[in-house]
Amino acid sequence: MNTKREIAALCAAAALFSGCGNNSDPDANSFDNSEVYMSSSSSSSTVESSTSSSSSSSSTSSSVETSSSSVAESSSSSSSTPASSTASSSSVASSKPVSSTVEIRPTEIPDIPPENVSEINENTVVAENDEIRIEKDSALRLNSEMELNGDLYVEGKLFIEESAKISGTGTIHVVNSFDDIICIGTVTAKIDAPEPVEIDGVTYVGGVLVANKKYSLPKDFGSGLSKDLNAAVKAMRADSGFKMPIISGFRSYELQERVFASWCAKDGEEVARTYSAVPGHSEHQTGLAADITSCMASYANTAEAKWLAENCYKYGCIIRYPADKVAITGYIYEPWHIRYLGKSTAKLVHDSGLCLEEFLEIDG
Ligand code: DAL
Ligand code: ZN
Repeated sequence: MNTKREIAALCAAAALFSGCGNNSDPDANSFDNSEVYMSSSSSSSTVESSTSSSSSSSSTSSSVETSSSSVAESSSSSSSTPASSTASSSSVASSKPVSSTVEIRPTEIPDIPPENVSEINENTVVAENDEIRIEKDSALRLNSEMELNGDLYVEGKLFIEESAKISGTGTIHVVNSFDDIICIGTVTAKIDAPEPVEIDGVTYVGGVLVANKKYSLPKDFGSGLSKDLNAAVKAMRADSGFKMPIISGFRSYELQERVFASWCAKDGEEVARTYSAVPGHSEHQTGLAADITSCMASYANTAEAKWLAENCYKYGCIIRYPADKVAITGYIYEPWHIRYLGKSTAKLVHDSGLCLEEFLEIDG
């Protein structure tokens, strides 16, 4: 199944079996999909509405441990605030002085008590052996560049503003949910994902629902196309001017059974598995994936596909099966298949250059 013609045939047959025609108008698929996400706080959130509740594990005692004691002491404007008074003794920077360059002050963030919000407005360096902990019910707003050579644990909320950047050799550890990071800035530091969690037969990594060759979905899982994905596609159409029809959106377990069986009959199971998911393993069953415009390999060379690849993360989506990650995802390059993650997480994945399996540190 390597030729363009075969892929085109695959697509045509997929349309036959998957009801691509029925999905061509995303409005027809638009309904509340809350059932689908009942266990996930991440897949539907966006940068603008990222106040999902998260938290399962509790950890250390202080509310926000984001600053060195010297920082708190040095900032007279903040020293009387609860945020500064709870600052830990861990040092934000030891490779260069920061006591006169970091200002901590309360900033209102929904669902976070103002006294638990800290803000860093000037460049900082976190030394190799130092760590920052953003505790549950606390937040850190970063408006500046941080060279992170140690560890940053995110259990509360981390806002990485547009002007902000986190670089360095250190690691950002997502304790509960990727939704706890709201990133419109830049992250080049490594992001460490939490362990996969299985809830009612569905696997989540940091709140991101996973369906791939290793992780399956229950037979009765899924009920339609995600409203968030639908809205994202609509916004992409409006902004790009491309038509971008959804030729295959939500596919039930039963529909995927028929689709997969048809490809097995055509190409044999071994080949079919390189481009079609075994029933229960298709992202289309989550409602968070859609095939756009064409399932032909030649789609990759169109202006629309190029725009999609370059811009879909801004709308909360990623190209799920990239050309250079075939060995990891286990699927051929699918420039038409987008997966909705929410704006912040999609940006983090896009900027990382990793595929979703790599980003979530799971097998494909
Ligand atoms: N084509 C993708 C892998 C699916 O069948 O879900
Ligand atoms: Zn697809």
